[in-house]
Amino acid sequence: MPSSRLEAFHRLTPSKRRSVLLSSGWIDANEVSLLAGEGAPETARLDCLSENVVGAFASPLSIVTNLIVNGVDRLVPMTTEEPSVVAACCHAARLTRTSGGVFARAGDRRIAAQVLVQSALPMSVLQERVLGNLEPFLQETRRRHPRLIQAGGGVLSVELRSTERLVGASVVEILIHPGDAMGANLAIAVGEEFKAHFASILEATWMAPIVTNEPFGTATTAHARIPFLHLAGAGLDGALVASRIAMLSQWAMEDPHRRVTHQKGVLNGICAVFGTLSQDTRALSVALMADCAQRHHPCVTWTCQDGELRGEFQGPVPCGTVGGTGPYRPETKLFLRWMAVATAGQLAEVAASVGLLSNLAALRAIATDSLYAGHMNLHQRKQRESGPRN
Ligand code: MEV
Repeated sequence: MPSSRLEAFHRLTPSKRRSVLLSSGWIDANEVSLLAGEGAPETARLDCLSENVVGAFASPLSIVTNLIVNGVDRLVPMTTEEPSVVAACCHAARLTRTSGGVFARAGDRRIAAQVLVQSALPMSVLQERVLGNLEPFLQETRRRHPRLIQAGGGVLSVELRSTERLVGASVVEILIHPGDAMGANLAIAVGEEFKAHFASILEATWMAPIVTNEPFGTATTAHARIPFLHLAGAGLDGALVASRIAMLSQWAMEDPHRRVTHQKGVLNGICAVFGTLSQDTRALSVALMADCAQRHHPCVTWTCQDGELRGEFQGPVPCGTVGGTGPYRPETKLFLRWMAVATAGQLAEVAASVGLLSNLAALRAIATDSLYAGHMNLHQRKQRESGPRN
């Protein structure tokens, strides 16, 4: 293999980086155009969005049809390598239409910065000094983040706590209302500001500020109801399919091994949407899994009641409509328009609805013994349609 030491690679343009790959033997002349995609302007634009960009990597952009959330029809963009996720979400969304679609409510999203403080001062003195110097720090954050304050956000509280086994260090937690931002960068910035303000006051030998992806604030919820009648399929009566879905949901509540995969079915939908919107899918995944692990409860459950299957999503949905790289992509505006989303709360509501439906579709496929067959049929059909590749 050629050397992977490509000196100053990050300083080059995408087209120069391709030339370096060519001259160093990592690609041949045909592969240059494979990386370059349709045109240079595209890669130049993408260069602003990441590091060491050498080309464009296209993924299929799909649309979830049939969805109504809170009485509003929406189209939802998705990118995923699993074609069955898109088909399944479209189908599940259709099932909910006769009962008005999905009804969702965003929680109060919060984010926190953590700062590890290494100092020889006793805890009581650290507490005193943090409290005694808090107001000027809060004033400073308000001055530095005027747009956040205008959007109703800002620092909500600052807490210092000791950690049992962390000798010689304590942890500060700064809880923030992130406005319409996802808030991770904001939290790190506020953590840095805390460090700058308090380093000498706390006589710290080291301070390490970082965001925590622990979900704070209240959960986002989404509800849907499907009459048994609409669930019939694969020769099975709708009431039977509904009772099997409720049993699968119960299984996820009782059995942690099953719960992990049940959660994956929820994430299949939300991550596919968030991928198109440049949202942080990893922050979403760890927050949803942390919440699920703490409550020993899946984020989506289904029960049978009065001739209907009723489902509920409950969990954190970290996301934002300002900040991040999403606003730099021209498609983002269009996608948000399709989804009828203007705020982070509305985005969380649509995402939670998609998670609910993607879980429903997976459970229905398992309940009707069609999961493997449906998945493989679609996969093989797509491969046939795309024709042979060299
Ligand atoms: C496959 O990507 C996801 C499922 O396994 C989820 C589930 O089992 O509920 C179908």
